[in-house]
Amino acid sequence: MGSQASQIRRLFDEEADHYDRHFSNTSAGEKLRKRTWDVADNFFKPGMRILDLGCGTGEDAIHFAERGVAVVGIDISPGMIAQLRSKAEALECRDRIHCVVTDLEHVAIRGTSFDGLFSNFAALNCSPDLRVLARLAQEYLKPGGRLIITLMGRFSPFETIVERHFRRWRGYYDGSLYGVPLRVYYHGLHSLRRALGPKVELEKAVGLNLFLPPPRPEDDHRFSGRVQRWLESMDSSMGQTWPCRSWGEHFISVWRFF
Ligand SMILES: C[S@@+](CC[C@H](N)C(=O)[O-])C[C@H]1O[C@@H](n2cnc3c(N)ncnc32)[C@H](O)[C@@H]1O
Repeated sequence: MGSQASQIRRLFDEEADHYDRHFSNTSAGEKLRKRTWDVADNFFKPGMRILDLGCGTGEDAIHFAERGVAVVGIDISPGMIAQLRSKAEALECRDRIHCVVTDLEHVAIRGTSFDGLFSNFAALNCSPDLRVLARLAQEYLKPGGRLIITLMGRFSPFETIVERHFRRWRGYYDGSLYGVPLRVYYHGLHSLRRALGPKVELEKAVGLNLFLPPPRPEDDHRFSGRVQRWLESMDSSMGQTWPCRSWGEHFISVWRFF
């Protein structure tokens, strides 16, 4: 087994051509991403500049750029960045999107500060140590800037109760995809708060997909329309409350640095 960084790069390079079909373009994936935009759009306004950590194929970068937000997307996988570049090529907002292939441990963007740091759908679940976020905030975030991050948390009711998986409880899971082994780390609100340090306040947290399966093509029509709608409404009301706000397949949190 190679280093974690080279395993991540290999795995996402293999996945790059399929990622949007497997995740972003599923009906559940679109709904889930829309819920993260509903949170982030309240904070990232036209004219702002954000750094997208683990931007992948660029679904979020394109969304923000279309709203007038300038985005620098970084990702360790050249394959994922190639997908973003080819999607952005034809878009009017392409001048607002810049991307860089780099490990987030080694980001080096000179002479620039950002209004926000953004990381969607588990890029930081590949990292055992979230303190890299505090370093990036210190180096690149303007005072009063936000970190908005979606992570896989420590407890997913659906995964535990329906699918009988207990892997999150240990804090990490050794999985593999395309024969590439990768350790995934699960993080809660407390470890995030500890890693970010004292100069930060939590403004919002929302649990996502508490009672729904993770987005995957085979589950797009798992429930009838009525059941699906009921589960979705349970999800969006309970996901805002304690302790469910850091439960779910993922949870999103908004942090203000001062
Ligand atoms: C599950 S994908 C999410 C992609 C995208 N943010 C989205 O919402 O669709 C995780 C991404 O994080 C990237 N990633 C993971 N660890 C990274 C690291 N240490 N540095 C840079 N990118 C990383 C992967 O290459 C992958 O593209």
